[in-house]
This record gives sequence, structure tokens and C-alpha cells, in this order.
Amino acid sequence: MKIELNENKVYFNNGSLKKEIHPFWLRERVGGKEFLDKGTQQRLFDPTSLDNEICINKAKINENFLEIDFNDGVSSKIEIDKIAQEFSNEDTVIKPITKIKWDSTLKDIKNFRYQDNFFESKEMHDLLVSFYEYGFVVIKDIPTEDNFIVKFANSIGSVRRTNFGEYFDVKSKPNPNDLAYTSLALAPHTDNPYRNPVPCIQLLHCIVSEVSGGLSTLVDGYTVTEDLKNENPDFYKILSEVKVKFKFIDKDVVLEDWSELIKLNDDESLKQIRFSPRLDFVPILEKEKLDLYYRARKKLSEMYNSDKYKIEFKLEEKDLMMMDNYRLLHGRTAYKTSEGNRFLQGCYIDYDSTEGKLRHLKRKYNL
Ligand SMILES: [Fe+2]
Repeated sequence: MKIELNENKVYFNNGSLKKEIHPFWLRERVGGKEFLDKGTQQRLFDPTSLDNEICINKAKINENFLEIDFNDGVSSKIEIDKIAQEFSNEDTVIKPITKIKWDSTLKDIKNFRYQDNFFESKEMHDLLVSFYEYGFVVIKDIPTEDNFIVKFANSIGSVRRTNFGEYFDVKSKPNPNDLAYTSLALAPHTDNPYRNPVPCIQLLHCIVSEVSGGLSTLVDGYTVTEDLKNENPDFYKILSEVKVKFKFIDKDVVLEDWSELIKLNDDESLKQIRFSPRLDFVPILEKEKLDLYYRARKKLSEMYNSDKYKIEFKLEEKDLMMMDNYRLLHGRTAYKTSEGNRFLQGCYIDYDSTEGKLRHLKRKYNL
């Protein structure tokens, strides 16, 4: 992209397109310590208070800078590279990471190992890229003392507290209020579909594992929904159009949220899956539509539960798994309490944590 000048007008030219840049757009971007705070790069002026009739008295290109005198008396040098970056208007960190679809044939899960200064390391950068590729990562050797999972979450970003607390203990206990707290198998599901917004990422940390069962299961909802789209487009369509209600009730709170089981972005790409068949309430629709909906949901459930898509592996003591709750489903196989204890701790973070950390590490290591 090139910046060109003609009679005090500034143009950008990307080879195929030449357009004038609005003078006000340039005036908003003036730099210098009078106008921009050096540390935060935040404006020290409010552009909405400027006169709309801003125009350029004089402009020239000086090497990598555009030097402009505006008619309100302000002069500034603007880096041409920065203008070019804004014109590409693209996320250069998260969006370019290509999601890798996987199913039960996924082998050689890449593990990471915790070490000193882990959260500021290049390894952390690679971990986050891998997380965005596969939707999960496993980190070994995470300290198990003092609910370290909360420190882990807060060192990537911020723990997402819910009404269950900052973190939760997963172990079988008498009179459980959720099947998670038994030794029964848990079918693949996403967590907390009744929240607005749903927690984006779940962390699960294995503290004690003395049992032979209790394997972790994961399913890539991205692979499954792409296959459904190709094989049963009518099913995919109705599941991405009909909103159902998800609900959680206890004595202190009533949580409800409506969503499609397959939620799409404006460009029709996958935004989020929700699947928790004990908690969803389908609205009353025309009988024919419901007929199609129920067949579609059954098919989706069969796919999510199929061995074709599921991976199973054992979380060893000190292993911490980080998984995308908008993309993956998780569950576990049954285990026998007579064999010993099984104790995991869990908590949530949101995408601002992983995105913020990844953008920071890219900047730090100039990647
Ligand atoms: Fe869960």
C-alpha cells in the first residue's frame, strides 16, 4: 500500500484501488506527547469535541512519515506503516491461526511442561497457538498446592468466577448436586450453557488419580458440525437456527439463556456449540418443524457420542488440561471409588485472557 498526495489531499493506493483518506480520520491519529499518552497509547483529547470541518493546510511525505498541518493549528507526523496496518483491517494474531479439525485418529497430543517463568515464555506463546489450533492443550508438572489452578488462570488472564465460586473440586461425594460429583461416566457435553455469556475456556487440573478408570474424553465439535453440514445440511440448518432455552436452578439463583445448539458468526463460520441434553428446553414450534428438529438433535447427539470422534486419555497427577468450551465437548469414563481417590479442580477463563496473553507475547517476542 502506498500513500500519495495531491493538492493537500491524502490518498491510499493498494495497487488496484485509490481512495482519499478523510482528513478527520488522520486528525484523530495525531501523535506526540501533547495528544497521546506514551505508555498507554491512549488519546489525551476527545475527537468528538473537534470541529467536523477539519481539513489539511499542508501535507508532505518525509521518508516513513506523513507530515500534516491541519487547519485547527495542529501539526503532526504520522507513521505510514501504522496507517497501512489499519487499512488491512485484519486481526493478525488470532484469526490467522487455522483450526485443525481432529477426530479419534488424533495421535501424539502435544504436551507442554510447566517451568519457571512459564507465563512470560515463548513456550506459553506456542501453547496458546496450539490451543487455538486444536481447541485444547495439556500442560504437565503443574504444582498442585494451594489451589494453584487459580494462580494459573490469573497468570494467563483473569479467572472467571461463577456462582460455584472461583474454582470447583471434582470428586465423588455423598449426596452430590451434580453427576460430576459421582463416579459415573459423563457423556460429552459443554459446560454451563445456561450462562450469559457462557464461560469460554475450562481448565481442569488433576490433583489425585489413584483409579484406573476416569479417563478424560474430548470431542471436537468443530469437526462434528462440519461433517453434519456436509452430510445432513437440513439438520445443520435447523440446529443453527432454532434457539432453545438452557436452565439451571438452585436455591439462590435461576440462570437461563437461549441459544442455538450450533451458533454461527455473521459469515456463517462456527461461533459456539452448546450441548447438555439434561438442561435444554426446545420451544413449541410447528409439529413438522419439531419433527425435523428432534431428528437433527438425535443425529448430532449420536455423532458427539460416537467413537469416530472421541479421544480418551488419562490425566495424570499434575496434568492441567485447558479446553475451549465453545468448540469442544468433554466428558469422562466411569471409575471405581474402591480403587482409591480421584480429585480434579476446575475453573474458567474467557477469551480475553488467552487473546490478551497471546497478543502480548507476539509483541514481546516480535513474532
Ligand atoms: Fe463438564
